Amino acid sequence: MRVVMIGTGYVGLVSGACFADFGHHVTCVDKDASKIERLENGIMPIYEPGLDTLVETNVRAGRLDFTMDPKAAISEADIVFIAVGTPTRRGDGHADLQYVYAAAEEIAEYIDDYCVIVTKSTVPVGTGDEVEKIIAKARPRASFDVASNPEFLREGAAIDDFKRPDRVVVGAQTEEAFAAMQELYRPLYLNETPLLKTERRTAELIKYAANAFLATKISFINEISDLCDAVGANVQQVAKGIGLDNRIGSKFLHAGPGYGGSCFPKDTLALTKTAQDYGSPMSIIDTVIKVNDKRKASMVDRIVKACGGSVEGKTLAILGLTFKPGTDDMRDAPSLVIIPGLQALGANIRAYDPEGMEEAKGMFKDIELCDDAYHAMTGADAAVILTEWNEFRALNLKRVVETLSSNTLVDLRNIYPLDEVQNLDYHSIGRPNQPK
Ligand code: UDX
Repeated sequence: MRVVMIGTGYVGLVSGACFADFGHHVTCVDKDASKIERLENGIMPIYEPGLDTLVETNVRAGRLDFTMDPKAAISEADIVFIAVGTPTRRGDGHADLQYVYAAAEEIAEYIDDYCVIVTKSTVPVGTGDEVEKIIAKARPRASFDVASNPEFLREGAAIDDFKRPDRVVVGAQTEEAFAAMQELYRPLYLNETPLLKTERRTAELIKYAANAFLATKISFINEISDLCDAVGANVQQVAKGIGLDNRIGSKFLHAGPGYGGSCFPKDTLALTKTAQDYGSPMSIIDTVIKVNDKRKASMVDRIVKACGGSVEGKTLAILGLTFKPGTDDMRDAPSLVIIPGLQALGANIRAYDPEGMEEAKGMFKDIELCDDAYHAMTGADAAVILTEWNEFRALNLKRVVETLSSNTLVDLRNIYPLDEVQNLDYHSIGRPNQPK
């Protein structure tokens, strides 16, 4: 099949490369000339494990190309994806759809024979209807359908998520559109991936409901972890104890400094705005958002307490800046709240992140970016693990104590077993300091 992907951001690029790897011919389109030029030279705009090789292999096989001018590709396409950004609109929390609508206008100009236009960007319920109207208005005689095909990719594991998804959701209004989408995803039949066919608005809502539910699980376990601290229980064992119940499931029950990233904060907010607009408010998600915002800020108090009640004039080594491991993405990372919070209380910050240093430059004032974890810890009064990168899981704890001027380690991701840290002044989340 011939596929066009409008937008070479995270979702567009990963999806485009994976569809090409399925054997389709994919043209990725972007307005950013330097991005297209870099992609043509094999330089990835984001860090995602395995993406560079996947792009290179498919470009070489002639199945994947990049362009700023989509005219020819769209006129020959069977399927055109809209995978542009839908950032939070300034001021009101709604998803900003200007790029989605601009893409629809552009597609309308160039479509020729029947084609399916698919929104892959996370868009509020009803956006597909709007896209359909825009195209029908511009080209009243064009033959096309508009479908919704939300993505569920996790950064850092996106290629695997794409190729081995739990499900594929397709929302469409005609059998012709379902047939085209089924053909597109045919390679996944081999591993019997369920393809859920729904009405278009339902598919749009599934994406928001999934992210809001996962965010709820995280805020839930974070509040349970505070209660564990208060009553002297162990949150990891509580998570295990409830997660073994199949109705609950063990995933997304890791207590931490609060969720971040490009999806959960933006999508939970957009969902509550949609819910308000339709007169069906979602007080659970309103609370999840509040709990998460408070969560990030409360980490500052936790660190201050671990440092003996004050960080004034103290130097802290921050290990990890990105919102999670396996990515260079800093969007809504807890570090963006925690570091300025500590600085406001007089702390000096030395920081290291395995992939996020380039992104982090310019996002913080007056922090020293270091070459590695031990460099960051050199002479520092305490170390704080903010992101659970693998290299922080295997620190030489003897060397940590020798490198720091104290033995205080604050682990906001609970990555160390309690029996390994008995020689440290170790502080984690929702776990009593003595191993049980
Ligand atoms: C998420 C969804 O998982 C994905 O399906 C959707 O398409 C996009 O949003 P992503 O943002 O890449 O993916 O990261 P994810 O692994 O889901 O983590 C999100 C945030 O939650 C991170 O800040 C992470 O640290 C936090 N988290 C996750 C927890 O604090 N505890 C957990 O148990 C799981």
